[in-house]
Amino acid sequence: MGVIGCGWACYFAGRGVEVRAWDPDPDARERLERTLALAWPAMEALGLAPGASSARIRFCEDMLEALEGAELVQESAPERLELKRDLLADLDRAADPVVIVASSTSGYRVSDLTAHCTRAPERVVVGHPFNPVYLLPLVEVVAGPGTAPEALDRAANLYGAAGKTVLRLEREVDGFVADRLQEAMWREALHMVAEGEATVEEIDLSITAGPGLRWALMGPMLTFHLAGGEGGMAHMLDHFGPSLKSPWSRLVAPELTPDLRDAVVEGCEQEAAGRSVDDLVRERDRGLVAIMRALGSIDHGREGDT
Ligand SMILES: NC(=O)c1ccc[n+]([C@@H]2O[C@H](COP(=O)([O-])OP(=O)(O)OC[C@H]3O[C@@H](n4cnc5c(N)ncnc54)[C@H](O)[C@@H]3O)[C@@H](O)[C@H]2O)c1
Repeated sequence: MGVIGCGWACYFAGRGVEVRAWDPDPDARERLERTLALAWPAMEALGLAPGASSARIRFCEDMLEALEGAELVQESAPERLELKRDLLADLDRAADPVVIVASSTSGYRVSDLTAHCTRAPERVVVGHPFNPVYLLPLVEVVAGPGTAPEALDRAANLYGAAGKTVLRLEREVDGFVADRLQEAMWREALHMVAEGEATVEEIDLSITAGPGLRWALMGPMLTFHLAGGEGGMAHMLDHFGPSLKSPWSRLVAPELTPDLRDAVVEGCEQEAAGRSVDDLVRERDRGLVAIMRALGSIDHGREGDT
């Protein structure tokens, strides 16, 4: 299990749900244990559900053992289309047709993923989470053209019952919603590094000390509604609308040259300043817990948050 599979296992165990985990990599069990050690204190700080226990996770030797008694299968294998197609076809053959099969994919469409499914492709959905899965509430639940409406309902209900905030998409959208927005910003950031316009550290600071603080509370739309002053979004659009066509944005992806790759990797290492990934995970999780607690302490008008 990787970053996301381990994150899901920890999350569900923290909500008191029985989890059966399987991964063909012999090192996966150790990765799960490491993630548990990092995640559990943060989950505890945010509040565990009754019955939460890391002992609810059982690591299985094979896929069939992992599928026993499952209501929801959360496929979190590498983002490679052929690998996912084959794995989902295996899962589809092996799991009872009433079991919901969800993919954590960051962008593939359900219709692409189910290409080799022959038994019950109508129970396959996308269930796209956000890292760290054990803290961030959002899951984008996406249907394909062949997904049964009842399967989408059941998937949304299962995630909702486990405390996730569900963004339900009844039709396929490239990149879903949140990933499409994240990727647009990521492309712009890579252009700026490639052109020497901003360093990795400056890009990160520009968000964490600026818009990122607002985005934890209000999304980009309501944020700009307030940026329009008394006139709200109407003033914002009339005032700044013409600048939408300014050539600031280069949304086509830059060439990922070895130089650009090295500049981004080195920039991240400099910014980390000797902190290991585990150190940064702890730091991030402490911050997220504090932000989520602060949001919970005020009535900020959002529905479905936990
Ligand atoms: N990393 C993120 O921030 C993030 C966020 C949301 C969604 N996702 C999506 O989650 C999925 C997993 O991403 P990740 O970042 O955890 O990747 P990862 O590389 O950390 O983990 C992938 C895991 O899949 C296992 N694996 C390899 N082949 C397999 C197979 N045939 N069957 C079953 N398991 C297999 C590997 O052993 C590994 O443990 C991807 O689809 C990715 O797009 C990632």
